[in-house]
Parts: sequence; C-alpha cells; structure tokens
Amino acid sequence: MGTKIILDCDPGHDDAVAIILALGSPEIDLLGITTVGGNQTLEKVTYNARQVCTVVGKQAPIYAGCTRPLVRPVEVAESIHGETGMEIHNFELPTPTVDVEDKHAVDFIIETVMSHEPGAVTLVPTGPLTNIALAARKEPRIVERVKAVVLMGGGYHTGNWSAVAEFNIKIDPEAAHIVFNEPWPVTMVGLDLTHQALATAEVEEEIRQIGSTVSEFTVGLFGYFRQAYKDAQGFDDPPVHDPCTVAYLIDPTVFTTQKMPIDVELHGALTTGMTVADLRAPAPADCHTQAAVELDHRKFWDLVIRAIKELS
Ligand code: BDR
Ligand code: CA
Repeated sequence: MGTKIILDCDPGHDDAVAIILALGSPEIDLLGITTVGGNQTLEKVTYNARQVCTVVGKQAPIYAGCTRPLVRPVEVAESIHGETGMEIHNFELPTPTVDVEDKHAVDFIIETVMSHEPGAVTLVPTGPLTNIALAARKEPRIVERVKAVVLMGGGYHTGNWSAVAEFNIKIDPEAAHIVFNEPWPVTMVGLDLTHQALATAEVEEEIRQIGSTVSEFTVGLFGYFRQAYKDAQGFDDPPVHDPCTVAYLIDPTVFTTQKMPIDVELHGALTTGMTVADLRAPAPADCHTQAAVELDHRKFWDLVIRAIKELS
C-alpha cells in the first residue's frame, strides 16, 4: 500500500491533473477527494471532481466541503479556469457517473485521520485552506496525528493574485494562517516551484502520443489552460501547479526543499495573503515549515505521463 493521502482540491485544470497523478500512481493510496470553494463555486468544483473520476474510470470517494472562506467573501479564478472552473478544448466532458458521499469534507478529514494510526495520513491541499483549517479547529488532535501537510499555495518570491499573494492563500488567508501556525510539518509547494512545472509543447505532444481518453482529456485541459495563462498572466506555457504536491509524495527527489519559518500576512493593505518567509538566517532546528525550491522538470513530467499511461 502506498502513502495514504487526502487530496483537498478545487478542480480546476491543475487539480484535475493532481487527481490523475494520485489515482494513477501505485505509490499513492488516495483515501478520498475533498472539495472546497476556490477556482469556482463549491458546486462547480465538486461536479468537476466527479467528471474527472468519470473520465479516468477510477475513483476515490468524493466529499464536498466549505462553500466559502472563513471570513472573506467568495472570489473565484474565472480568468484562469473559466466559467465552469474546468473549461476544456476539443474534449466532450461526460455527465458524471460518480456520486458525492453524504458526509461533509471536514468530518471525513477528521474521521479518517483519527481512525488511522498516528503518522499514517498526509493531507494534500491544492485549493484554499478552508476545510483543513476548520478540521484543525473542530478536532485539534488531528494536528499531531497527520504525517504532514503538503500544500500548493503561497511562495517566497512572488504572487499571482496580487504582487505578493498566491491565489489559494489570498482567497482564505485566515484559514492559511491557521494551517501554517499549527505545529504539524508543512511543505509549501509555492509559486517558486510550480512556475517551473510548465506544460511545454514537447510535454503536451508526449501526452498526446499516448492516444487514450485520459491523454486526450489532459491535452484538452492544457489547451484551455495555455490560452488562459497567456491571456491573464502572459505565460507561454501554463504552470501546472497542483500535481507537484503529489509528485513529491511519490518521489521526494522530484524537488529540493529548504526549511524556513513561514507565516501568513492578514492585515497588509498591499500584502494580505502573502506567505512571509524569514530567510535572514538558517531555520531553527525545530522549524516545522519548509518550502519547495527547485523542480526536476523531466522527473515530474515522467511521473505524470506514467500515471496517464496507467489509467489509459
Ligand atoms: C493555484 O490556484 C489555482 O488557480 C490553481 O488550481 C492552483 O491551485 C495556483 O495559484
Ligand atoms: Ca487548485
């Protein structure tokens, strides 16, 4: 059995690839997919998660979570993910045949962590941190029980939803503040890393060559994502953020990390949602936060391609 994870996501093009990577990799035991309002409304991203599992023909139980951030109003990433949250080029998305479980995501997270041995479950959030923060508040014992939190969000050099804040953190900074300040091990897979995870034309062509439904689906996602990232943020190739978290749990050599104290800004007029990393000195020995630094681009895409082939 592989590493047990809960993928807490808001599909989302790159969240969809994270689901594919998790379902298609023998090193990962995907205990559940939990959804959170983020890239689009909760209703839309939950529908998209069901669609991804339907296309892939393999599933983990899906649990819907929070509809909105802890404190702030709903704000979605339509400029990047479109009206449905998972707009696609040249691919007919099916009506989902996979249902949503009758339990709130926060309760699923708590029950799963508490019913496993301490250190057995890793939380992998790739959307706003609302569900994870609420779970930690509702059942504080999960904090010492989870193995680690490996999250996509933040960055220590740049933002994408403001000059200094990344989308997942900016949307619900209060939740992020809770998650970064609990003493569990946190790996921040932020923009410093994920902007290296570019879906180049060569990568896209390799995936196209697989010639299966799952590969056509992935190429269709990249087609829309490429155009949206070009129009909205001037990228030539889209950064495929979210699967970097799962890739690290399959093979920790896929990127390097650096321990650094990280906190979340809540009150700045220009900086709310910034993940503030203290790089003035080597991190203290008891530092529980680290950031992803340098990606092995080839190794990363080899893992994604292997998963697509496995599901094809
Ligand atoms: C993050 O925001 C979302 O748009 C993506 O799915 C990713 O999780 C990147 O900033
Ligand atoms: Ca996401």
